[in-house]
Amino acid sequence: MSQTGSNKDVSEENLPSEQATAHEGAMGVPPRTKSLGEVADDPFADPGLPPHEPRVQDIDKRAAKRSERTVALLFTVSMLATVGFIASYVVLPIDKIVYVWPFGHISALNFALGLTLGLALFCIGAGAVHWARTLMSDEEHAQERHPIEAPPEVKAQVMADFKQGAEESGMGRRKLIRTTLFGALAMVPLSGVILLRDLGPLPEGKLRHTLWSKGKLLVNQNTNEPLRPEDVGVGSLTFAVPEGLEEDDHDFQKEVAKAALMIVRIQPEDIKDKRELDWSHEGIVAYSKICTHVGCPISLYEQQTHHVLCPCHQSTFDLSDGARVIFGPAGHALPQLRIGVNKDGYLEALGDFDEPVGPSFWERG
Ligand code: FES
Repeated sequence: MSQTGSNKDVSEENLPSEQATAHEGAMGVPPRTKSLGEVADDPFADPGLPPHEPRVQDIDKRAAKRSERTVALLFTVSMLATVGFIASYVVLPIDKIVYVWPFGHISALNFALGLTLGLALFCIGAGAVHWARTLMSDEEHAQERHPIEAPPEVKAQVMADFKQGAEESGMGRRKLIRTTLFGALAMVPLSGVILLRDLGPLPEGKLRHTLWSKGKLLVNQNTNEPLRPEDVGVGSLTFAVPEGLEEDDHDFQKEVAKAALMIVRIQPEDIKDKRELDWSHEGIVAYSKICTHVGCPISLYEQQTHHVLCPCHQSTFDLSDGARVIFGPAGHALPQLRIGVNKDGYLEALGDFDEPVGPSFWERG
């Protein structure tokens, strides 16, 4: 593509000898060979532009056609990749995990979205570069420095050069490239538009309910065995999930995240909150394991004080006092699950949590 136009204001008589030499080269006149005296005067003189060498595409129409098809192919692949992006987003389940070397086990959806979007953008870039390198004019023109405010005739020359560049780029002539480029550029933004689907629909009741219901057994999360009261010793912290959860279940991770419980045994006389006492069994209390700040799993228990600590931002809850917040950024107490013992002697839930678990959200009230 032409870089600039020529400056008609600059006359050769007014230029120093080395500028005049460069100017001559720029105007297509072979540079004048400098005399030994001139070279000795200025050993770092501008050598001027090297002579233009035509590319194979400039002299061979079939090579130019091949390049045109390559560019069109790259733009077409970009369009197909965008279609692949949209198809992946619609078809692939969010929790499907695949093995991809060398990354290991990763989300199939994330992998497909990244791959297709990257390919779509790369092909547009590669097509544009190949087009510029092989088909657009590569003749270089030099222009001498001029005042920042260009005179009207120079502006007119720039406009003429711009039009000439557009003409030489083949944008008007090469309909195949133009059509596929516009297609690729028009389709790439669709990848962003389709992601707006994740803004809806509203979760409605999904954030309010967990898998706990009346009669569901409390199962030790590590051993997968139903818990009896005698399995919960004073000072220990036990993690539990509802019975019947299979690791292969489609929503396993989501449901465990919502229903995970912390179970501790506190001497009944140490329990300060009356409701907490009613909802426990012989001092065994069950609370949501999900921090009410931004949802990290709570894991540190201090048996002397009955405090549990969230490792993410150090919110601290007092399990002997309704799990109220005694330190940190969490906004409210951990939800308690009402528990009892069934006729076979196993710990069971007496219903679901009576408030949403996890972080606050705007419809919580
Ligand atoms: S997530 Fe628990 S304190 Fe921030």
